[in-house]
Amino acid sequence: MEKRLQTILARAGIASRRHAAELIESGKVSVDGVLVAEKGMRVDPVKHEIAVNGRLLPGEEEKHYYLLNKPAGYICTVTDTHGRRKISDLFTRVNVRLYPVGRLDKDTTGVIIVTNDGDLAYRLQHPSFKVDKEYIVTISGSITSREISKMRKGVDIDGGVSAPCEISEIRKTRDNTILRIVIHEGRKRQIKQMFEVVGCRVVLLDRVRYAGLTSGKLKCGEFRKLTEEEIEKLKRI
Ligand code: URA
Repeated sequence: MEKRLQTILARAGIASRRHAAELIESGKVSVDGVLVAEKGMRVDPVKHEIAVNGRLLPGEEEKHYYLLNKPAGYICTVTDTHGRRKISDLFTRVNVRLYPVGRLDKDTTGVIIVTNDGDLAYRLQHPSFKVDKEYIVTISGSITSREISKMRKGVDIDGGVSAPCEISEIRKTRDNTILRIVIHEGRKRQIKQMFEVVGCRVVLLDRVRYAGLTSGKLKCGEFRKLTEEEIEKLKRI
């Protein structure tokens, strides 16, 4: 991904942004061997060699982007001291250190992006980007339309009132009710907490869409590479 040269130098720990601008203006920075004078220049650090005072910056890692259909029973933390199964265990044949974008609870299934692109991961999780997350929720028993409308407007959970969301009932079975809910936030156990407020217990939670991506043909536990087009679309969010 192209970034401003100043930003690249600052992120590589070479200098503060202001000092990086000074280094560029004083002709100390080169891209592919050519000295640069324009501090606003945009460069892809994976594709080009950047040097300061003739010394190359450590190359940026190639970025990898996957979509996983997470199975139940796997945690989303990168390291775990309790010997639990982690989603990184599913990626052992991919020889790169990857981490999930956000978290799904151990018992939650569904789509999650797994990448080593920290910038994109940060942006997708930042509340200001309002990324759509759609879930199919199975609750024990039933729920009234008044309770649904209360959740739609926002309920008081850890960290304050949840933002307005879309929520609708799909169907009822003898013991359960199945609903569709779309939220933009990503607070810890958010959906379970929202249902708890109206006295309902979530028994199954499946994320069917994240930032426009759905599991499609991916079976539970399978993953695929994101296409260039999908990656570009995520970067434009
Ligand atoms: N909300 C939850 O309660 N759990 C998840 O895993 C995701 C959203």
